[in-house]
Amino acid sequence: MSNIDILVGSTLGATEYVAEATQPILEKAGFTTEIHFIPNIEVLDVTSEQLWLICISTHGAGDYPDNFKVFANQIDQLDKQALTNIRFGLVGVGDSNYDTYCYAAKKLDLLLIAKGASRIGELFTIDVVESPIPEDKVIDWIPTWIKDLNNSAN
Ligand SMILES: Cc1cc2nc3c(=O)[nH]c(=O)nc-3n(C[C@H](O)[C@H](O)[C@H](O)COP(=O)(O)O)c2cc1C
Repeated sequence: MSNIDILVGSTLGATEYVAEATQPILEKAGFTTEIHFIPNIEVLDVTSEQLWLICISTHGAGDYPDNFKVFANQIDQLDKQALTNIRFGLVGVGDSNYDTYCYAAKKLDLLLIAKGASRIGELFTIDVVESPIPEDKVIDWIPTWIKDLNNSAN
């Protein structure tokens, strides 16, 4: 049974609900999950194959949420091929009134890929203007991601 580390980037808490909403669905699909509210590279094993599902909002003017800044910096410091064992899904939560809509998710995507990680499925963005309860959107999307994940393993 594969484990999925669910990594949360959230300042005000909405994205924590998004991340938590994925957990029962992933577990029903046969995965074990571990949620990380303050992701840290020192507790995530990148030396063997791992699956991450990252749920991250955007703050400032396109910045990472406060709880994610140390982790993003840790990733940035890694060697170019350091994350070749990592496959990840990515959910961005943001507000389309900002020019920097979901920019934290978008820049994280580029950063992870630059370090050798592979994304499973498309980056999924949730606009809180259209979706005041963002976890409802992720509940609709997660089966698609699970399908992509299972297909990628074949
Ligand atoms: C001060 C502030 C700055 C924000 N900046 C952005 C932004 O640059 N881009 C974006 O897409 N959303 C932005 N947002 C919207 C948040 O991403 C959105 O409210 C989200 O639901 C917050 O998630 P969280 O509660 O998990 O932190 C901003 C919100 C606040 C309060």
